[in-house]
Amino acid sequence: MLIRMVRNTGSAETHPGTGRSDVRDGPIAGGILAGSVRPDAPGTGTTLAHLSARDVRIEYRSPGSSDADSTLAVDNANLELQRSDFVCVVGPSGCGKTTFLNAVAGFLPIQGGSLELDGKDIPGPGPDRAMVFQQASLLPWRTVLDNVTYGLELGRKLKRAQARDRARGLLDTVGLSGFGDRYPAQLSGGMQQRVNLARALAVDPELLLLDEPFASIDAQTREVMQAELLRICTARHVTALFVTHDITEAAFLADRVCVFSPRPGHIVREITVPFERPRDQRLRRSREFMELVDEIAEALYGRAGIPDEELR
Ligand SMILES: Nc1ncnc2c1ncn2[C@@H]1O[C@H](COP(=O)(O)OP(=O)(O)OP(=O)(O)O)[C@@H](O)[C@H]1O
Ligand SMILES: [Mg+2]
Repeated sequence: MLIRMVRNTGSAETHPGTGRSDVRDGPIAGGILAGSVRPDAPGTGTTLAHLSARDVRIEYRSPGSSDADSTLAVDNANLELQRSDFVCVVGPSGCGKTTFLNAVAGFLPIQGGSLELDGKDIPGPGPDRAMVFQQASLLPWRTVLDNVTYGLELGRKLKRAQARDRARGLLDTVGLSGFGDRYPAQLSGGMQQRVNLARALAVDPELLLLDEPFASIDAQTREVMQAELLRICTARHVTALFVTHDITEAAFLADRVCVFSPRPGHIVREITVPFERPRDQRLRRSREFMELVDEIAEALYGRAGIPDEELR
């Protein structure tokens, strides 16, 4: 029998807001970021969450605009990720998923609650995190290979030859061997998105943030990419926070699926996925998998498409 834990995430205890208002760098193409992490907090005696969001509130407000013109995108969002977790986020369009991801990436400040990496407020973008955007955001004047090495050049940790070797390896991984000398405009949308993923992986991030990265990839390639992403994250102990509208994708990839409410977004339900990694493509055809997909769909849309009270 399939054993599954379903947890409603209510508001956690309120912590002082970080109120961070400075963003050092905007999102550069490929989302390679700069900052620092501390793997263990001394003296706590407990396992420190890699990522911890408590009562996070994020509002869009133009300078000088009134309350009426502001948009409260995320409110009371609570989420914890341990190292190597793969967590998928699903939720209605416009509920604040991308906003939340951008705050974790350090591109956006939060206005309330706390958002911490290894017990420290997120100071801004950092090399410990990489983001894969929904739209491929490659530098059109650089070759595919040079796009993948871009973040490594910024980090200056590897010599050019090493960086190019690593980039070639990653292009093999995403099924683009032999395309290194092409330019982005010479690739299909799905191929560009795979270069995006290779570029994010090139910097060896601890936390990979993915915003519907496979939405524009054909169904068959998407399934292969999902398995490959899971394999890479498992092998490299990468923690992943993955936003998707595709419930099947969430069920295949995640250790936990978090369901966001409509805006202002917060997590109304977490569903623990019981499948071991590595996951075989045949898993998708199992009864347990289909039951899980149903369960996520019900959490998202309600039984017979009628939204749950919290999702209304
Ligand atoms: N730069 C911005 N300025 C003002 N409001 C914004 C901005 N970006 C997003 N919003 C608003 O914040 C809310 C959440 O947007 P967000 O992009 O986070 O949603 P989402 O859950 O990612 O949606 P989708 O699934 O369609 O991608 C929406 O109401 C949107 O209009
Ligand atoms: Mg979005």
